[in-house]
Amino acid sequence: MLEALQQLKKLQHHPIRGVRYLSRWTEFHLRPTETEDKLSMDAQQYWNAPNPELLQPYSHWRGAGIFADDDRWLAWGRKHLEIYQQFSRMMGVTKPPRRIVEWGCGGGANAVHFAPLAEAYVGIEIAPPSLQECARQLEAAGFRNFEPVLINVSAPETALAQIKQKCDLFLAIGVFEVFPTPEYGLRVLRTARELLNEGGVAFIQIRFIRDSWSSRPKRFAYKRNFADNNAYRVETFWDEAEKCGFLPQAVRLVPYEKLNDRTNYAYFMLAT
Ligand SMILES: C[S@@+](CC[C@H](N)C(=O)[O-])C[C@H]1O[C@@H](n2cnc3c(N)ncnc32)[C@H](O)[C@@H]1O
Repeated sequence: MLEALQQLKKLQHHPIRGVRYLSRWTEFHLRPTETEDKLSMDAQQYWNAPNPELLQPYSHWRGAGIFADDDRWLAWGRKHLEIYQQFSRMMGVTKPPRRIVEWGCGGGANAVHFAPLAEAYVGIEIAPPSLQECARQLEAAGFRNFEPVLINVSAPETALAQIKQKCDLFLAIGVFEVFPTPEYGLRVLRTARELLNEGGVAFIQIRFIRDSWSSRPKRFAYKRNFADNNAYRVETFWDEAEKCGFLPQAVRLVPYEKLNDRTNYAYFMLAT
């Protein structure tokens, strides 16, 4: 409440912004939250929108939305490869991963940079067109060892039965933030642990919660809040990863990411 009053005071000379702030604050604090089932159903529908103007930009397809700028599309995945490599050097990991699994591979912006490291690249998706687009980008880059895995949002654990061989690197970029709830994210984290060989690592990007209410998961209106329904406090995600059987090794915070103009990213490197 105090935070809201302070913010409203700051906005006293900007009445429209003040009203908008108040309405978002009121909705967040008073609107009943929705169940994970409801949010999952809405997510399934959202990411399978027949309208390519919605599907392609938010699934990071090359040439769509902010990624019409090809340098930006290439920079997105390259940046993640660099952070992963820095973490790996810090941990003294020298062997490249033989099998990589990426959760929510979208249009392949990370895949084209990570796939050359490995013999096989497994892409997990809830949207068939994104799996096809990822395969197309990898093929165009000369990589033919893509294994597509389609799941339904409501059942992330079904990925386990479809992936016969364990992996050495689990990758999740830009996807934990679009999960229906934080609890759902922990289901995926447990699944990630099961997908990995002993000695494997998980490299995961999440959005982190600050003191302000506005960075907390919304848990309603998936379509409007699709990238704001899931976030964790940094120490909570660290602890939860331990409970899932990981040994967290490092975390890097990126308070502002200019490539997609979003805030509060944290990258975790988790050993098995
Ligand atoms: C913001 S895009 C990120 C794509 C890619 N990881 C990247 O960094 O460029 C999110 C992707 O996650 C997929 N997705 C959304 N919810 C998912 C879920 N529960 N499980 C797997 N994939 C999901 C979407 O279809 C979409 O392609």
